[in-house]
Amino acid sequence: MRIIGTGSAHPKHTLTNDDLSKIMDTSDEWIRERTGICTRQIITDENLEDLAAEAAQKALDDAGIKASDIDYIICSNVAYEYVTPTVSSIVEGKIGASCPCVDLNAACSGFIYAIDFAEALLQTGRATNILVMAAEEPTRMVDWNDRSTCVLFGDGAGAMVVTRGEELRAIKVSSKSNLDVLHYKRKLEPTPFITKEEEHIPLYMAGQEVFKTAVTCSLRDLLAVLSDAGLDKNDITYYVLHQANFRINDFIRHRFNMDPAKFPVNMDKYGNTSSASIPMLLDELNREGKLKNGDLLAFSAFGAGFTTGACIIEWNK
Ligand code: COA
Repeated sequence: MRIIGTGSAHPKHTLTNDDLSKIMDTSDEWIRERTGICTRQIITDENLEDLAAEAAQKALDDAGIKASDIDYIICSNVAYEYVTPTVSSIVEGKIGASCPCVDLNAACSGFIYAIDFAEALLQTGRATNILVMAAEEPTRMVDWNDRSTCVLFGDGAGAMVVTRGEELRAIKVSSKSNLDVLHYKRKLEPTPFITKEEEHIPLYMAGQEVFKTAVTCSLRDLLAVLSDAGLDKNDITYYVLHQANFRINDFIRHRFNMDPAKFPVNMDKYGNTSSASIPMLLDELNREGKLKNGDLLAFSAFGAGFTTGACIIEWNK
């Protein structure tokens, strides 16, 4: 694949750490020190599908192609008001596309999985232009009485248009089933036949376990894709990592002994936007003019499952 356009969108309401400290027992200092997050944009009166459509339209405009040129839409999404139809199908209608649409859920790693699926469609010749996107509203999954999780998240959407090309140098996705460390469970409609006890569990996270697993898996995946691509860690222009916690990314940066400039950050502004974090950050780099042809970008993400994914792609827009 080759990336030919990017876009992103986020809700208008900014929630600061100080705002949070007015409604729960927390502080700007605690959140900033433990996570690097200062503010997040959270959904108030917006609908996720509108943010997703805005990100998609910006990616199309950036690519200079029309919605009718898109052969497939793949959207990563964990949870959303509509269980069906999918975000991608709703976006299809909003942007005026007419193509197969599918959502996938691999938690915060979903965007890397979406890239993997898109690459397979491109390689088999089933598609020429694909809208690969992620739209997430994790602030609707957390318990707002649980200060250890709700302060971490923000909402948003990111998208990119990919076409046929040789720029994806390596990709690796993985999953190791582990329900205990990270899960969100919702209650389905009751029926006259259900006899088991069911419960709604807002996002549960064993923070320190997730932290350790994230660091280990991200390092492992990045080294694997570097090796598969026959590249050295210094060949990468930017490590565009999932924006969950500054300390996780900084740990990896230290292990790689790299300059902070190679590890761009926007979690300070947006918090953890789940699988939307990588395409949102990519779009920011693109729009700020920081990417030039030939740059090598390494993506890496991890999330509930426990799923992980990493890839290396050359920027050649
Ligand atoms: N404000 C103030 N104090 C808080 C707090 C908050 N928002 N949240 C938790 N605390 C308290 C805890 O109650 C605990 O208090 P105690 O020592 O009196 O029991 C103390 O801070 C330390 O809690 P702990 O959970 O050990 O902190 P931590 O250093 O592990 O940081 C996370 C917590 C969640 C920030 C960190 O574990 C983390 O980022 N994990 C990875 C999460 C992640 O990446 N998730 C995304 C997966 S896609």
